[in-house]
Amino acid sequence: MDHSKDDLKVLVIHGPNLNMLGKREPEIYGKTTLDKINSDLKNLGEKLGISVETFQSNHEGAMVEKIQEAADTQKGIIINPAAYTHTSIAIRDALLLLHIPVIEIHISNIYKREPFRHTSVISDVATAQIAGFGVQGYRMALEALARMIQNP
Ligand code: DQA
Repeated sequence: MDHSKDDLKVLVIHGPNLNMLGKREPEIYGKTTLDKINSDLKNLGEKLGISVETFQSNHEGAMVEKIQEAADTQKGIIINPAAYTHTSIAIRDALLLLHIPVIEIHISNIYKREPFRHTSVISDVATAQIAGFGVQGYRMALEALARMIQNP
């Protein structure tokens, strides 16, 4: 079946402190800003025939509400829950409402860092996880998600 770009919408959710990318611990997260990541993803989406919406919040409840809305409007989600990865049952429960692919992404390799970052309460409800590729991981996630939703 042919899909028009508007049929294939995906949402990219960035959690707390990711608005500070570029300035925030550049030795861990690199120097690329969130605006650059988002505009690169939108451009890549154009090439892949997918419409990419991006959202960042420092607030758990706002992230939960955005995930709830996605249930009716999006074909897939890429989410970097940031610190909420390790704590948020609310975000986990919201993701469980969805019946679309969910790609969890981390810029850093969380398994190589402090022990409290080794646990993700999201990963067993996500379709797949990408960690440790730096900001390049976002492109990888979008390419993989595009394949999943274009060839369900
Ligand atoms: C992160 C890893 C988390 O442990 C951390 O709290 C973040 C970013 C990453 O992208 O590597 O804020 O999700």
